[in-house]
Amino acid sequence: MNVIRIFCRRNLLRHARQNVLYSHCRLCSDQRQQSDKLLSQIQAKIKFSGPITVADYMNVALTNTEQGYYINKDVFGQKGDFTTSPEISQMFGELVAVWFVNEWMMAGSPDNVKLIELGPGRGTMADDMLRAFSKFPELTKSLSLHLVEISKKLSEMQEEKLSSNPSSMSSDIDSDSTPYYKQCVSKYGPNVYWYRDITDVPAGHTMIVAHEFFDALPIHKFQKTDRGWREVLVDIDPESNNDLRFVLAPTESAASKVILQVDSDDNRDHIEVSAKSGVIIKHLADRIDTNGGCGLVIDYGHNGEKEDTFRAFRNHDLHDVLIEPGSADLTADVDFSYLKKQCNDTVKTFGPVTQSSFLQNLGIAYRLKMLYDKADEKGKKDLLSSFHMLTDSEQMGERFKFLAILNNKCKHSPIGFDPLPVDS
Ligand SMILES: C[S@@+](CC[C@H](N)C(=O)[O-])C[C@H]1O[C@@H](n2cnc3c(N)ncnc32)[C@H](O)[C@@H]1O
Repeated sequence: MNVIRIFCRRNLLRHARQNVLYSHCRLCSDQRQQSDKLLSQIQAKIKFSGPITVADYMNVALTNTEQGYYINKDVFGQKGDFTTSPEISQMFGELVAVWFVNEWMMAGSPDNVKLIELGPGRGTMADDMLRAFSKFPELTKSLSLHLVEISKKLSEMQEEKLSSNPSSMSSDIDSDSTPYYKQCVSKYGPNVYWYRDITDVPAGHTMIVAHEFFDALPIHKFQKTDRGWREVLVDIDPESNNDLRFVLAPTESAASKVILQVDSDDNRDHIEVSAKSGVIIKHLADRIDTNGGCGLVIDYGHNGEKEDTFRAFRNHDLHDVLIEPGSADLTADVDFSYLKKQCNDTVKTFGPVTQSSFLQNLGIAYRLKMLYDKADEKGKKDLLSSFHMLTDSEQMGERFKFLAILNNKCKHSPIGFDPLPVDS
C-alpha cells in the first residue's frame, strides 16, 4: 500500500507537529489513560480486519460511548479546545431567532412547532433563541424544543442552562416507551426533549438549526492516483511503536464506488465526502417537505472546491489527527454544494452566504447599539470585541456560512440571503 507522506501543506504540518509536542505534555494521566484505551481499540480493530476508513476513525474518536471526544467533557471556551459564535455573544442566537420568527409568520403562524437543534453544545444558542421567542407569546405557546445530542455531559449542561428547575436535574429515561432520553420544562415555558438521533423527533411544523454540527460528522477521504480514485485509510505503522498512519486502499473501496461522484470539470486531487451528513440533510429535507417549515445550517465550509481540510484541535491549537484519539476535536470543512445536492428538489435552498452578510442583513448593528447603550464600560468593550469577532472578514465573518432550507411551497426568499448594499 502507498503510504501518504504529507496531507497538509508543509508549514501547516510543521506547525501541527510543534503543537503536538506542546499539547502532548498537557494531557493529565486520566486523559492519557482514556486516550490509550481508545487507541488500543482502534489498533485491535485494524489488526483484526485491516485498515479502517477515516470516517470510521472519526466516528470512534469523537463519539465512542466511553472515551469519545464529545462524550464526557465540556470542550468549549478558554479552558476547552475551541469557541463558537453562540458562546461569543447573545446577539448571534437572538438574530438566528429573528430569522425563524419571520419564517414562522410567513408560514401563517402555525401550531405544534418543533424547534430542533442538532448538536446544541452548551445549550447557549437554544437559550438565547427561547428568550428572544418569549417576546412572541403565540409562538412560545405553540413551541417545543427538541435537542439532538450524543454527549451525556453536554446534555446535562444543556439541561442546567435551559431548565426551569436546574437544581433538580432529571435522570436519563431508560425506556423503550419514549423516543427521547431526557425531558424538562424550560424557564421560558416550552418543553424540552433530548434525542440521540434526528429520526426520533416526532412530526410537527419544523424549524431546524444546526450550528457547527455538520463539521463534526465523519468524512471519507479520497485521493486521485494513476490507477484512479482510491480511499485514504488509517493503518498501524509497522516501523513505529504501534503509531497510526494514513495509507491508500490498493483497489477501489465500497465507499469510492458508492459515495464518490466526481464531476468531469472537477480538477481536485483530494476529495472529502461526509456520507453521514448526506443522510441527515436528506432526512431534514424530507421532514420539511412533509411537515412544512424551514432550516438553517451554519458552519465553516466551501462550495466543493477545497481538498484537504481534515484537522484536529486541542487547547485552541492545531493537533495531529492521528495522535491520542479522543483527546482532540476532529473536524472537516462542510461541503455546502454536496449538502445542497443531497436535498435534491425536495426543498428550496438559499446560500450559502457569509456570516458577516447574514448578521448584518438581520440587523446586528442595530442590536449592538441597543445592548451597548445599556452596558457598563467593560460590557461596552466586550460587545464591540464580540461584534468584530463575529463579523470581521479576517475573523469569523467570511469563513462561517449560512445555508437556508425552505419548504417548496414557500413563494418568498428568506431574509438575510440578499447581497448587502455596496456601502454597508
Ligand atoms: C462543535 S460542537 C457545536 C456545539 C454548538 N452548536 C455550538 O456551536 O456551540 C458539536 C456538537 O454536536 C454534538 N454531536 C457531535 N456528533 C454528534 C452526533 N453524531 N449526533 C448528535 N450530536 C452530535 C456534540 O456533542 C456537540 O454538542
